[in-house]
Amino acid sequence: MKKTTRAHSNIAFIKYWGKKDEDLRLPSNGSISMNLSNLYTTTTVEFDESLSKDDITINNEKDGKKIAKVVSHLDRIRALKNTTMKARIVSVNNFPTGVGLSSSATGFAALTTAAILSLGMELTEKEMTVLARLGSGSACRSIPTGYVEWKAGETTDDSYAVSLYPPSHWDLVDIVALTSTKEKYVATTDGQKTAQTSPFFKQRMAHIEKKIEDCKLYIKEKNFSAFGKLMEEDALEMHAIMFTSHPPLLYWLPETILIIKKVLEWRKEGIAAYFTINTGQNVHVICQKNDASKIEALLREIPCVMDVITNTPSRGSYEIEDHLF
Ligand code: PMV
Repeated sequence: MKKTTRAHSNIAFIKYWGKKDEDLRLPSNGSISMNLSNLYTTTTVEFDESLSKDDITINNEKDGKKIAKVVSHLDRIRALKNTTMKARIVSVNNFPTGVGLSSSATGFAALTTAAILSLGMELTEKEMTVLARLGSGSACRSIPTGYVEWKAGETTDDSYAVSLYPPSHWDLVDIVALTSTKEKYVATTDGQKTAQTSPFFKQRMAHIEKKIEDCKLYIKEKNFSAFGKLMEEDALEMHAIMFTSHPPLLYWLPETILIIKKVLEWRKEGIAAYFTINTGQNVHVICQKNDASKIEALLREIPCVMDVITNTPSRGSYEIEDHLF
């Protein structure tokens, strides 16, 4: 059966950084995110008895490390279904890959959903998130709708993502200021491996539960200033851990700092905008709907900003009818 799905990227407000089990991708801590309307991957999967090997095309490319990761994930799904059938897969992102916009999350969420549907398997949403997590940790958060919590868990079956609220709960806007499409110099999976070498890692773990509870409360109450402050602090805390890991990790470019400074200046002028950054140089500016067009215009005025991508809260992953082959 040929099946096509779409999965949206997600931005974490409380970040996932570090694993307590590398093979099972069990995170050291839980995380909270929102799915993003304008950043997504579309994937078509068809299992076919006549294929002798998987035929995979990702963003028009047919080889490389990414393909090997997809084959490993397919093997996981084949083992669940007890089949050896190979698959034809075409996958495209509507945004640049490897620049801090969570293409591995969208990629593995869309792949998991399409492969499961294509094999006619019936999994619960929770089981789908567990499976997507094994492909790429944050992919589990791109399966449920809207505002999502990934519960860290202690075993593979209890490390899963669940929707906290639908997209309509709160009209937050995430404006990505794209300053460079250069691919990150260290893949997130490799970067995560050294998180525990930072002297600040233990410190972060000691208060992370409280941060998660506070974040959930601020989202529930739609308390934007408390939420923004917490989110910004968490992004800086995660990057502080990266800076102080062995070897150090520095995903920022001069443009990243320039935009951070602008956001801080705007806030002093009374504009309610806060920033967050993943593994990459591009900054996500978070605001509320009423301020979005003003902030988008301000970002566009900055000479190093190549483009802005404006996102509202989105649903998770879903089936579409338009196949890619
Ligand atoms: O799921 P991964 O391995 O791509 O890691 C995601 C890490 C961050 O984007 C930096 C944080 C997060 O929680 O999304």
